[in-house]
Amino acid sequence: MWKKIFCKTENKRETAKLNEISADLLPSHIAIIMDGNGRWAQKRGLPRKAGHKKGVDSLREIVKAACSINIKFLTVYAFSTENWKRPTAEVDFLMKLFSVYLDSEVEEMDKNNVRLKFVGCLTELSGELQSQIKKGEKKTADNTGLGLNIAVNYGARDEIVMAARNIAQRVLSRDIEIKDINEQLLDDSLYTAQQPPVDLLIRTSGDMRISNFLLWQCAYAELWFTEKNWPEFMPEDFLRAINDYQKRDRRFGGLEDK
Ligand code: FPP
Repeated sequence: MWKKIFCKTENKRETAKLNEISADLLPSHIAIIMDGNGRWAQKRGLPRKAGHKKGVDSLREIVKAACSINIKFLTVYAFSTENWKRPTAEVDFLMKLFSVYLDSEVEEMDKNNVRLKFVGCLTELSGELQSQIKKGEKKTADNTGLGLNIAVNYGARDEIVMAARNIAQRVLSRDIEIKDINEQLLDDSLYTAQQPPVDLLIRTSGDMRISNFLLWQCAYAELWFTEKNWPEFMPEDFLRAINDYQKRDRRFGGLEDK
């Protein structure tokens, strides 16, 4: 079903881009900062919430595209620990949108073998949203296709503090010793435990910053920016980002292969 919709949106340029993508060099983990919903709406004289609503459509299309080309992990930034500073009406609208999204998409995700996970401090969300999240995660837990992480009430510094506390607690309870603390243990203490590091970080809407998103996981990520706002970001742009990524020379601090 999804594949068919994706094909419907395909145009010649998109097909050409898809053909240029090498299956061997696919990024294992793509992260997206879905920015510019408000600006998209304001430019059209619409309320900001219209931008967030349209942003859901973009997300749906990008998830389909990621499935179609067999991306293993996709993490999207939906709500940061700092976003609570927005007006209450906008925060409430976004929370409602997450709930509506879960209601309408989990079934389709499950059919398409997507494994859903929410990352962030979820205990600060409403009880109703938390149980909806748990239900969605449980339903899709055994799926083996795309791992879709939705970051809500997420902050990378907050995540690293949480990991440090967990590790300290394990030392105190003599589960581990200080000498056991290494990069792998810290990695395994994050929300993204057992997932590959981010290979490609995409940010829409022209701002070129990381905004407290996956700081540990993005240590060697390739960064890709576009002026387009999130509601106008299409599978074609996603494929272009992957295509550009495949041309990058990734040295991880070493020297170029001769
Ligand atoms: C950034 O645009 C976007 C957000 C803070 C919310 C992201 C949410 C969505 C894309 C909705 C769909 C998500 C899910 C999981 C259903 P902005 O409001 O910061 O835009 P601006 O920078 O132009 O003001």
